[in-house]
Amino acid sequence: MDLTTRWLGLELAHPIVPGAGPLYDGLDGVRRLEDAGAPLITLRALFEEQIVGEQFALARAIDSSSDAFAEASSFLPGTHEFVLGPDEYLEHLRCSKAATRLPIVASLNGTTQGGWLDYATLLEQAGADALELNLYELATHPERTAAAVESALLDVVRAVRRRIRIPIAVKLSPFFTSLPNVAHGLVKAGADGLVLFTRFYQPDIDPGAQEYRPTLRLSTPDELNLRLRWIAILHGRVGAQLALTGGVHHGSDVVKALQCGASVVQVVSALLAQGVDQLHALVAQLRVWMEEHDWNSVTSLVGCMSHQHCPDPRQLERANYARLLQSWARE
Ligand SMILES: Cc1cc2nc3c(=O)[nH]c(=O)nc-3n(C[C@H](O)[C@H](O)[C@H](O)COP(=O)(O)O)c2cc1C
Repeated sequence: MDLTTRWLGLELAHPIVPGAGPLYDGLDGVRRLEDAGAPLITLRALFEEQIVGEQFALARAIDSSSDAFAEASSFLPGTHEFVLGPDEYLEHLRCSKAATRLPIVASLNGTTQGGWLDYATLLEQAGADALELNLYELATHPERTAAAVESALLDVVRAVRRRIRIPIAVKLSPFFTSLPNVAHGLVKAGADGLVLFTRFYQPDIDPGAQEYRPTLRLSTPDELNLRLRWIAILHGRVGAQLALTGGVHHGSDVVKALQCGASVVQVVSALLAQGVDQLHALVAQLRVWMEEHDWNSVTSLVGCMSHQHCPDPRQLERANYARLLQSWARE
């Protein structure tokens, strides 16, 4: 049974990788994941706001009479709200590289061009084997067009590509009118892999206090289908490898993701909820399924149900949609 796969130029022992999150904020976490059989580690993201915030703080310290940055910086989260500051992040990356033989994917989260992107270079110099770039952006301005939003994201990827040589994965949101076109553009701009999808943590509101109530809920398998569909549509069409993140809780979820065209799945909620040893269970469940269904390699499984095998994907989508709506019957 060959479970190996490739992701971001790396040969991995199996396709189930811990995704960006709090699982490895300390070296203990890194070692625990290595012991649990993780084939690579994706660090949590360093945010544009953190880096820019430090740059503002430095500018204010140099010219304390200036309030030029006061308004902008008042929107930024305080540096104490981030688990790792920019310098600590680089140090953590260096120490993690020294403490483990696993490849480490560093992560940056931001949406604008600027000096903060120099951190891509610093992360590469600190030993990152690849970079995951999370382009989390919710368009909120009525006059900003889809084309402007997309073009800004492509500019960020181009700017990062110019700075570093290591592979780049772009983690993106599902909210684009033509996701395949955006994906195609990201690959042309320099992305080697696409990670589908960023989760949007919709804040609740407290009607009495008239306040936002941000709540971080772990995912459920209900989130899987949106990702499966888009992985199946993009597989083999955009010149990049695909990773699925969001809703993987069982080996059968992994099988579906691979069949649709993911080269790897990223897992966070399942490991937070059940402990990192759940990784062993997921790999075992994948292996058992493959044995029972006579598949002897992950690479042969990848994409066997993608739209690449469908002569007219648009008609297939329309037909599935129409059939689904007709299928409901009162009990
Ligand atoms: C506590 C927590 C922290 C996270 N931090 C990050 C992060 O720093 N960067 C990022 O791109 N995703 C982050 N994520 C999102 C995960 O990487 C992942 O995409 C998401 O949780 C969906 O996968 P899951 O269903 O396996 O949890 C975080 C998720 C959780 C639960």
